[in-house]
Amino acid sequence: MKFSYKEITKIYEEFNKDIDSISSDDLKKKYLSKKGNLKDLLKKIGEQEKEDRAKFGKEVNILKNFIEEKVEILSSSLKPKFSKEQIDVTAPFEKNTPEDKKPKLLNKLGSTHPLTQELEKILEIFQKMGFQIEESRQIDDDYNMFQSLNFPIGHPARDNWDTFWTEENLVLPAHTSTMQNRILRKYEIPIRVVIPGRCFRNEATDASHEHTFYQIEGVYVDENISMSHMFGTIKAYLEAFFETELDIKSQPSYFPFTEPDAEFVISCPFCKKEGCSICKYTGWIEIMGCGMIHPHVLTEGGIDPKKYSGFAWGFGLDRLVMIKNGIDDIRKLHSGELEFLDQF
Ligand code: DAH
Repeated sequence: MKFSYKEITKIYEEFNKDIDSISSDDLKKKYLSKKGNLKDLLKKIGEQEKEDRAKFGKEVNILKNFIEEKVEILSSSLKPKFSKEQIDVTAPFEKNTPEDKKPKLLNKLGSTHPLTQELEKILEIFQKMGFQIEESRQIDDDYNMFQSLNFPIGHPARDNWDTFWTEENLVLPAHTSTMQNRILRKYEIPIRVVIPGRCFRNEATDASHEHTFYQIEGVYVDENISMSHMFGTIKAYLEAFFETELDIKSQPSYFPFTEPDAEFVISCPFCKKEGCSICKYTGWIEIMGCGMIHPHVLTEGGIDPKKYSGFAWGFGLDRLVMIKNGIDDIRKLHSGELEFLDQF
């Protein structure tokens, strides 16, 4: 018998027409039963010339698999489910979720995340104090993250910031100070800006460390600015945030971008220095790093340090929110756990 694709093609075309008009049972009968069309074709494999047999057999089998697969899909139990259960892809997620699969809290309206809630309050306080707001960025370069902040290449303090680097030598900012140079260049003196932003550190996580967290930087520059302005400003902000009067003190610290540098410490707003679990029974809480902006940093930002001075600070939003709300594990803030979030 002379080899030809014709018969194979004919059955393929016929099947494609039938598929829209015949039920899956009838398709099975017509194509796949003992007396079906395919059986005839299969028989014809043996009738081919020897050298064409394999090729013809292969083609017939491809068609057979194709028809079997289609009939299987049409008659399988999946089919009625797909066509009966209407899914409105534009509807909110919960509309398409069966009742028994809905998480318990999904029936309630959502709320803003505790970090967002506190961030909004903090920014409002600073706005009332005359600060402008500028958002930090989530990818930056060596110049802004280090060099402009008085960490020349090879400076040992670079290691304190556990930075993530990309293959292109960009950096995921490990602190919001990465924005200082831009702020100094962009704003007219007097400069009063707060800079909230996401930060990243390449370190192991535990109850008080996360690789991703938020900081709020502050930058203040004018004529005749001294450390007393810094202590007064930060104290006023923290008293507004904790809604109580605070005692303050400072401890020495070290940052390449400030001189002098300080750790800002407040009396525990909860126990009033009596000692409690939040202040670890010391009565005091170290709340942020701060200091007078280093003259090199001012110069690099285009500001004459002989004429102007200023202060800056940076604190962790997550930590502040934890202290204020008695949250014992920083990882909860980024977990997306509804049971946790529902408390706020
Ligand atoms: N960037 C510092 C940190 O992440 C905090 C800090 C300290 C920011 C002193 C400042 C500053 O602006 O002046 O630990």
